[in-house]
Amino acid sequence: MTATLTAPVTARPRVRQTRLLIDGQWRDSVSGKTFATIDPATEMKIADVAEGDRTDIDLAVKAARKAFETGPWPAMDARHRGRLLYKLADLIEKNKEELAALETLDNGKPIKDSLAADLPLVIDCFRYYAGWADKIHGQVIPVRGNYFTYTRREPVGVAGQIIPWNFPLLMIAWKWGPALAAGCTIVLKPAEQTPLTALRLGELAMEAGFPAGVINIVPGFGPTAGAALVEHPGVDKIAFTGEYRTAQVIMKAASQTLKRVTFELGGKSPNVVFADADLDAAVEGAHFGLFFNQGQCCCAGSRLFIEESVHDEFVAKLLHSVKKRKIGDPFDPATDQGPQVDKAQYDKILHYIEAGKKEGARCLTGGGRDGDKGFFIQPTVFDNVTDKMSIATDEIFGPVLSVLKFRDINEVVDRANNTFYGLAAAVWTRDVGKAHAIAHRVRAGTVWVNCYDVFDAAAPFGGFKMSGMGRELGEKGLDNYTEVKTVVIAKD
Ligand code: NAI
Ligand code: MG
Repeated sequence: MTATLTAPVTARPRVRQTRLLIDGQWRDSVSGKTFATIDPATEMKIADVAEGDRTDIDLAVKAARKAFETGPWPAMDARHRGRLLYKLADLIEKNKEELAALETLDNGKPIKDSLAADLPLVIDCFRYYAGWADKIHGQVIPVRGNYFTYTRREPVGVAGQIIPWNFPLLMIAWKWGPALAAGCTIVLKPAEQTPLTALRLGELAMEAGFPAGVINIVPGFGPTAGAALVEHPGVDKIAFTGEYRTAQVIMKAASQTLKRVTFELGGKSPNVVFADADLDAAVEGAHFGLFFNQGQCCCAGSRLFIEESVHDEFVAKLLHSVKKRKIGDPFDPATDQGPQVDKAQYDKILHYIEAGKKEGARCLTGGGRDGDKGFFIQPTVFDNVTDKMSIATDEIFGPVLSVLKFRDINEVVDRANNTFYGLAAAVWTRDVGKAHAIAHRVRAGTVWVNCYDVFDAAAPFGGFKMSGMGRELGEKGLDNYTEVKTVVIAKD
């Protein structure tokens, strides 16, 4: 399995936009600085992008504040906000191939996935929240005395949104959809690894007709642009997706201004296969649940617990399937696995692969770099993994699967819960009692039964424990962007 960069079937896209979007204008950064965004398949520079820092964030926040307080946005009918969101979804659909190609170029994910997973989920998410815009309402509350009391759900204000690089467009959809439906204004800081699709989406948002200042985009780095956004007193709320250590820094900084914070962080999700499961379906779920998106998923099923009696049979089937993965040029429509997003992630993953070998796990396939150019890593499966090995405790965020054996349900529940993470879990069984037991007893924000990675814009997603705070998607996701106001009126 060598990464051969074959002739692309989907054309590599042209980069149209590399500047900051502030107050409806495309601008260079005040400092004039830029940073390079890299194609992880070739390690070559794609483009130089304007690098925002504290000064640019300040301008963007001021524009967002102004747009929140005056101008067409706060006066707009909720239904019209919904129409703008539908229009943006339509424009994304119209430019689907270009956006998918740009995502593949900047992130390295296979074009097959960008087209079949990322883009359809993005479009669906915007349409879902478009429908909510005029359905966010309060209550009339029967109170003691001669008063008429009702609640309003008002937008929280200026939302600072800091997103990662693993699903650049989808993370925007999860954050812009509910924020715009609720009537907030936005300052988005995309990940420094993948700024390009955010900027193209900014162009489409302007084309859709969102008023100036409602959506501002400031590419830049975490400790500069990101930190400035978190500290800015003009920002009411921070929504962040990324590493839990970054969330700790953000929470501390946000405490100065008591900003509302919501976090969607990582995981070490248990994927539990009982002997009575449909093993072929479970093999597919174990494979897809870990290797999808080069293993760069917050909810990756990275701890695969297999009931001892079927372990050998299962592992043989799994290996057969993993060895068929086609790794290589992400623009080749047959490619299953592209490069990791950058050198830092690539190094981190190789470090864990070495740690797994040293700690005594058995490497059944993979175990190193693929090819000699680009951040490609072989699909790797470790067997004989025990609970204390670092490959069983730490989020690797790469194509490295740890197989663990178990004997009974109580044991596997305890071991599945023996982590500070709690994002997702899955169970494979034909026994409905076992399915419910795992679904209820494992402390995780999502539990998949006989499936994996099934997402829907209508279904809330988020973490227990250190995997997050709050929920995105669904009706729940709107709570992150609204404040409840109680109005009490004396009747006479
Ligand atoms: P990160 O949490 O550092 O970066 C995510 C975003 O936060 C980026 O936009 C970054 O610029 C920003 N950021 C970084 N430091 C900041 C700060 N001090 N203040 C404000 N914003 C800041 O994640 P990174 O370094 O890209 O990846 C490290 C590990 O985090 C990965 O190996 C993986 O384990 C985990 N991760 C989890 C993700 C998830 O989906 N839950 C997504 C990305 C990473
Ligand atoms: Mg970081």
